[in-house]
Amino acid sequence: MEVVIQANTDAATELVARILAREVQTNPRPVLGLATGRTMESVYARMVQMHRKEGLDFSACRTFNLDEYVGLPGNDGHAYRHYMNHHLFRQVNIALRNTHLPDGTAANLEAECERYEGLIDQAGGITLQLLGIGHSGHIGFNEPLSAFRSRTRVVALAPTTIRQNAPIFGRADKVPRSAITMGVGTILDGRRCVLLATGEDKAEIIARAVEGPLTSMISASALQLHPDCTVVLDEAAAGRLKKSDYYRWIYTSEPKWDWFRKLPAVVIGSGRNTSSLEDCRLEPAP
Ligand code: GLP
Repeated sequence: MEVVIQANTDAATELVARILAREVQTNPRPVLGLATGRTMESVYARMVQMHRKEGLDFSACRTFNLDEYVGLPGNDGHAYRHYMNHHLFRQVNIALRNTHLPDGTAANLEAECERYEGLIDQAGGITLQLLGIGHSGHIGFNEPLSAFRSRTRVVALAPTTIRQNAPIFGRADKVPRSAITMGVGTILDGRRCVLLATGEDKAEIIARAVEGPLTSMISASALQLHPDCTVVLDEAAAGRLKKSDYYRWIYTSEPKWDWFRKLPAVVIGSGRNTSSLEDCRLEPAP
C-alpha cells in the first residue's frame, strides 16, 4: 500500500482523476471498477472535463460498479445506476452496454450476484478499481465482518451506513436496508486499487484502515494485502495518521509519481504552477 497526501480536496481529486485517465488512455482494454458516493462526484466531473477539453476517449472502456441498492430500479433517482449515468456515462463517449452495475431488482438476487461475477471474469478482470470508504470502514458495501475472501453477494447495510447515506434519501427510513456488493475478495482481485478519501470525517477510519491491524471489522484494512493499492487523501482525511511524514517522503522520492508532479498544477492548488487546463495534455505512460 502507498499513501499519497495532497494539500487539499481538489488536488486529491485531480490526482485520482489523472490516474483513471491514464488507465483509459494507455490500456487498450481498460476495465474500470467504479465507485459512487459524494467523494466521487468531483472525480467524475473532472473526467468529463478531460473528455471535453482534452479528448479523453472512453470508447474502449468497460466498467463495473461496486454496488447497487436492492429494490431500486435503475431509473430511481437514488439508484447507483442513475448516479453513474448522470455523473459520468451520459457525459462521455462510453456505450451504456459496456457499463455494468448489479441489478438490485433481479427476481433471483443470488443468481444476479453470480452473473455479475461471471461478467467481470468474461471481461478479463478489473484493471483499475476505484474505491471510496464509508464511516463503517466499508469498501463497496462490505460492512464490518465481511470476509476478506467474500464475493459479490447481498448484504444488510450497517446502521452507520444508513445514517451516512440518509441525507441523500432525505430520511434514514427511506434508505434501503440491503444492497448487492462486490465482495472484498472480488475487489482484491482487481489489478490495481485506488482509494480516495477526503474530509475530516474520514480521518479516524482511514487511520484504522491504513495503520491498524488487518481485521474484517474494517473491510478497507484488507487493502493492505493488495500488491498495488494507492490511498489518496487530502490533509483533512490524513489528519489522524501517525506516519504521514514517512508517506510524504516516499511520495516525493518515488519516481513513479514524476508524471503527476510534472502536470501543470491547475486544480491542484499547490502553488507549483498555474497553467490553464488547456495546457494539461495527457502523456502516454513511459
Ligand atoms: C457508499 C458506497 C461506497 C462509498 C461510500 C462513501 O456507501 N457504497 O462505495 O465508498 O458511499 O461515500 P461518500 O463519498 O459519500 O462519503
